[in-house]
Parts: sequence; structure tokens; C-alpha cells
Amino acid sequence: MRFINRRAFLKTTAATAAFAAVPLKETLFPQRSNPQAHNPIAIASGNGPKALEKAMELMRQGSDALDAVVAGVNIVEDDPEDTSVGYGGLPNEDGIVELDAAVMHGPSYRGGGVAALRNIKNPSRVARLVMERSKHVLIVGEGALRFAKAHGFQEENLLTDKAREAWLKWKENLSTQDDWLPPHTIDDRGVGSMYRDYFRYYGTIHCSALDQNGNLSCVTTTAGLAFKIPGRVGDSPILGAGLYCDNEVGSAGSTGLGEANLLNCSSVMIVEWMRQGKSPDEACLLACKRINDRCREKRLQDEEGRVNFDVKFYAINKKGQYGGASIWSGGEYLIHDGAGVRKVEFPYLFRRK
Ligand code: GLY
Repeated sequence: MRFINRRAFLKTTAATAAFAAVPLKETLFPQRSNPQAHNPIAIASGNGPKALEKAMELMRQGSDALDAVVAGVNIVEDDPEDTSVGYGGLPNEDGIVELDAAVMHGPSYRGGGVAALRNIKNPSRVARLVMERSKHVLIVGEGALRFAKAHGFQEENLLTDKAREAWLKWKENLSTQDDWLPPHTIDDRGVGSMYRDYFRYYGTIHCSALDQNGNLSCVTTTAGLAFKIPGRVGDSPILGAGLYCDNEVGSAGSTGLGEANLLNCSSVMIVEWMRQGKSPDEACLLACKRINDRCREKRLQDEEGRVNFDVKFYAINKKGQYGGASIWSGGEYLIHDGAGVRKVEFPYLFRRK
């Protein structure tokens, strides 16, 4: 296990005082790697243990990484207990579930996505069909539903009682906890709700994998920000923002507040930083730092000028090295490198109080 020289890292990344303020031992990150080179490896967000088990089972049988990750996340999309993804996902402010998803396939350098898709519980499968059975990369809303139905997907009500009751509670206690903003300037604090509030829940699953043939692919799928304005599209279906894969370099993706990734093109940045030689941990931390450094809106900052929301990143490179990072401490991601699913604590930018 190798530890990078933190001083060299800070110098090369021009890290600021905010980054340097984190105690030394908390930002040392091992160069984590798949001990058995050429063996498959997969990384996912914390809600993906079953997805990783499935993806690994398929890759061990020789499956392509994209087949593996899509089959993996389908389990989470089908699970009514996971309120962040697919069937049972928390709805928009009208009480309607709208799903976003995208895939990228390393070997063919192709990708596809769907956004604001209603009534279809596996948006990741529809995203894959957009890639394989259309000339487009992204199809949204009513068009995405019609495309899915043309390919035989059945419409169904995705709103479970659990998600409806959560929506009703939010509706009955609405107050300022929605996504509409009054006229304001970037210097106004206290405008709108904090994304860390209970009611402003968001969740997603990302899964990236390297298969036996050394090929990379990834998927991100989500119900998006709970109680969002209808038609809101997050980062998950946007290649470069919520996921990105370059078969020569690596694959990356994200969960958390999608608007931050849309503004910072985080996933493609992570892949490009890995291309420049950064480890997956380093590249993911740089994405966290970029989001924090570029935030100018006071409503999105705490008293110390740090962003008041969280974003998490996941990455693997072509060598089977893996890593992640979160803006705020306390989270874990999941890795499966053949020895079972393991939790790994995120390196982070700021320690939660
Ligand atoms: N990252 C998921 C979303 O913001 O929709």
C-alpha cells in the first residue's frame, strides 16, 4: 500500500487554505488497487451492495461491464424500499415519480440517457436502449416514455405508499422547503431551504466496473431530488456530470446534489484528472474542491463559506485502482474486487460537526 506525499499533492493541485485546514492524517489516502490485476472490479454508492454482487457474478461469467452494472442497478430500481431510485422513488412536488438515468459503454465509446421519465421503473435499461437503438444520446419526458413503450416496457404506477406518505408529509409542512426562489442576489443568505434538511432528500445509485477483458462501463440512475419542480433534470442522465467513462483511462460517477455537478462537469473532470496521473481518490477530492471553490451563492454556504450540501464521487481507473471522495465527512462507498462487498470510508473535504 502506497501513500502519496500530501505536500506534493497540495502543491500540484494548488489546494487552498480551506483544503489545507483539514488535519494531515485525515487526508492521507492510500492508492487502493485491485490486488488481482485483470480480475473484475466494481464500485458503487452505499445503497448498492446487491448491485455489486450481481455485477461481479456476471463479470466472473465473462459479461461485459455494461451488462453487469445495468443488471446490478436494476435490482435497486426494482426495490420499493429504496426511495432514491426507480420503483418507490420519492416523487416530484406534484406527487409524480420522475426518473433520470444514463449509461456509458467504454469499448464502444457510446452513451445514452433518459430524463424525467414517468411510469417506467428501469430507466437505466431505457437509457441503454437510447444508446443502442436510436441515433440520439438523451431523450426526455413524454418522448422518453413513448420510446420505452415502443420497446415493450410496461407502464406502471411507481409511487409506493411509503413514498406517497413522505410526499404528503412534505406537502403538509411545505413552508420554505421547496425549490422555488424569490427574487434575490447571490449575496442573500437564508433564501430557500438547506439541502441537508430532512425534507430535501436526494439519493441515487452510481456503479462503475472494469470487466475481465479490461473494459470499463458505468451507469447512474435516480429518482432525483425529492419533491423537485416537475421536469427538473439532475446530473444523473447527463454524460460528463453524473457519470463519465473513457475506456483508456477510467470511469467515474456521482451521487448528491446534481446541480453542483451540472455546473462543474465533475465526472468528466475526474476522468481527465486520472488521465493526467491523479489517483481515483485524488481526482475525486479535486472534484469536491472544485465545487466548493466555485460556489458563489451565499444561500448555498455555511457561516464559514463552505457549501452547505454534499456531493460524493466514485472512480476506478484502467489499472483497477479505485477511490472516492465526499465534500462532507461521514460517508462510505462500496467496492467489490472479488473478495466480497466492502465498505470504504470516503476521503473528504470538510469534517462534519
Ligand atoms: N444526483 C442526483 C440528482 O441530483 O438528481
